[in-house]
Formats: sequence, C-alpha cells, structure tokens
Amino acid sequence: MRFRKVVPASKPSQDRTPSLIHSRGLLVLLAGILSFAAIACGPDVPQEPVPNKIAETQEQAAELSADLASGKSLYRANGCETCHGVQGEGDGPAGAGLNPPPRNLLETAGYKQGASEQAIVQTLATGVPGTIMQSYRHIKEADRRLIAQYILYLREQAGDRPES
Ligand code: HEC
Repeated sequence: MRFRKVVPASKPSQDRTPSLIHSRGLLVLLAGILSFAAIACGPDVPQEPVPNKIAETQEQAAELSADLASGKSLYRANGCETCHGVQGEGDGPAGAGLNPPPRNLLETAGYKQGASEQAIVQTLATGVPGTIMQSYRHIKEADRRLIAQYILYLREQAGDRPES
C-alpha cells in the first residue's frame, strides 16, 4: 500500500529531470547562436564589454544597498534615532528638551567634531564631551563606519544643507 503511493508521487520529479536537461541543452544552443550572431555582426560592435559593465554596476549597487541597510539597522538598534530622529534631523522623541539638543545630522555646518565619514566614526568612539552624546566605543569600528556612511547617505538624500 505504502509503496504504491510513493510511486506516483516520485513520477513527476522523474519527468522533470529530463526536461531540465533538455532546456539546458536549449540554453547552450541559444548561447551558441548568440555568440555566432555576435561574431557575424563584425568587429565594429563591442559585444563583450556592454553586458559586463551592466553586471558590474548591478553588483556594486547591491553591495551598496546591503551596507546602507546594515547602517540603517545599526542606527536604529543603537538608539541613535531616538535622539537624532529617523531621518537624522535631530527631532527624535528622546531628544526633546535636551541642552544642547541632538545634532541635526543633515546640517554639516553644525558638527563640532567634523562631518566627514572618518570624523563621525571617531565621534562615535569619543562621544561629545560635556553633552549627553556618549561614547559608542563598544560598537566595533566597521559597524561605526556603516552608521557614518548611513548618516552621509541621509545627508545626500536631503541634499547636504550646510546652513542651519
Ligand atoms: C540621548 C540622546 C542621543 C543619542 C541616543 C545619540 N545621540 Fe548623537 N548627539 C546627541 C546630542 C545632544 C548631540 C549634540 C552635541 C552637541 O551639540 O555638541 C549629539 C551629537 C552627535 C553628532 C555630532 C557630533 C559633532 O561633531 O558635533 C553625531 C555625528 C551623532 N551625535 C551621532 C549619533 C549616533 C550615530 C548615535 C547612535 C549610535 C547617536 N548620536 C546617539 C544626542 C544623542
């Protein structure tokens, strides 16, 4: 009884294997035709570099967004947004009434310790003495850098406003 049930269930997968091989064969054939067509088009047309360039750009974009996504979640997980706000405008709920108020991270002119990526990585290690902005030295440097890159990204999105 059991054995009988297994047989029909395994049948479709057996059927699928040859059709997969078949479609792979088709792909190889297609690739063959395409490369023949490429050669037939003559040496004037730069066939190879174009698809390569596209693939590279897509890879870079995927990498960048993965880093930014990590930076964003670190910015959130470490409570930065409770003071500095979701968009970095210094309007987080925990920042209300603080003196000095949380920095509006979008306005580069306001930074006391430098607004560059490296300066922010450093600020996160030291904090801002005399303010509630504490040291985040416990966050490893690579992660502090991801946070800094995310802040730079937020600024870029907002169009880098130098004046307060
Ligand atoms: C409890 C509130 C609070 C939290 C949480 C907080 N900050 Fe701040 N942060 C401040 C305040 C207040 C200042 C402003 C200091 C000043 O005006 O000198 C500041 C300043 C800064 C500055 C500017 C430093 C400069 O050069 O002037 C940066 C960059 C910064 N914070 C990033 C962060 C990041 C990233 C996090 C999360 C890891 C974070 N802050 C978490 C309150 C906070």
